[in-house]
Amino acid sequence: MSMEGNYEINGELVVLGIESSCDDTSAAVLRGNRLLSNVIASQKVHEAYGGVVPELASRAHLRNVVPVVSEALRRAELKAEDLDLIAYTRGPGLLGSLLVGTSFAKGLSEGLKIPMVDVNHLQAHVLAHFIQEGEEEREVPHFPFLCLLVSGGNSQIVLVRSPLDMEIIGKTIDDAAGEAFDKCAKVMGLGYPGGPVINKLGNEGDPFAFTFAEPQIAGYDYSFSGLKTSFLYKLRDELAKDPHFVENNKADLCASLQRTIVEILMKKLSRAAKDLGIKEVAVAGGVSANSALRDAMVAYGERSGSRAFIPPFAYTTDNAAMVAMAGAYRFASGASSSMADAPFSKVVI
Ligand code: KG4
Repeated sequence: MSMEGNYEINGELVVLGIESSCDDTSAAVLRGNRLLSNVIASQKVHEAYGGVVPELASRAHLRNVVPVVSEALRRAELKAEDLDLIAYTRGPGLLGSLLVGTSFAKGLSEGLKIPMVDVNHLQAHVLAHFIQEGEEEREVPHFPFLCLLVSGGNSQIVLVRSPLDMEIIGKTIDDAAGEAFDKCAKVMGLGYPGGPVINKLGNEGDPFAFTFAEPQIAGYDYSFSGLKTSFLYKLRDELAKDPHFVENNKADLCASLQRTIVEILMKKLSRAAKDLGIKEVAVAGGVSANSALRDAMVAYGERSGSRAFIPPFAYTTDNAAMVAMAGAYRFASGASSSMADAPFSKVVI
């Protein structure tokens, strides 16, 4: 998505953000670019199914949206009448889930007679780097910068020219990085979502104990399905010899898998930064909570003389603070949204 315009945010603008694209119901309040509250209700109901069940997610959003918005206002010490703008995630995501946040935003905007703006969830992840908290002034990236956007549904390298001018220059051609973590965790019986468990166990293992296939893909695109198959075959072969193989090598398997995924991600990001002569890199999305990836970003920054930006943990998961931030930028550029705007499920930026 590209948009020209004025990105000067009114520091007094009070924005309510609403996020419901997947399995987190979240509401946040921002004054200008400063966070006043950020409330997230995660849905535990999916754990038993090994993945997000769309219909259950929609129903949980319906139950959560009113209490979550009320709590965000309470923590911000504001009333609904104090809001100037509503920003909501329009997509990409699960349509049923998006419909809940979209409908709620439209109803509230109409009831309060205040404007609303629709927000692209992926742009919002990138713009989380511009949220300020408390009294401190956090350093923010300069444009243009590259953002590695890695979650359960996406793995992309985004060239960020300005707050609303972003281009995907590389993306996964099959699985996302988070999916690779989750699927490999599943075959080891580690539950869902597997990324955080692999991270925890992996930090105690030897990252060079095992080697798995790395993709040979042209340009800045990613692929993780080959790695997943290679991991699966390794387990199958070893389990045929020793039924306790996974149990006895869990930490080393997690460490080696984690190292491989991080190496794949960093290789393309650093190549893109070098080719484009960009000295500012950032990471965003659920997988940006991974400690090995965070360490690799810092190490890359030091090695290459670049500035590397890692988001606070609260913004790695789906959250409405980033939606409010993106909404404030969209509003500053003159954008608005109408009752006719329907949610979209597909990835666009
Ligand atoms: O952005 P996100 O919250 O939502 C979706 O895109 O669904 O990302 C969730 C993904 C999951 O695949 C999860 O396993 C992964 O992020 N994840 C992690 C870590 N924390 C979450 N992967 C690796 N290490 C982590 N610490």
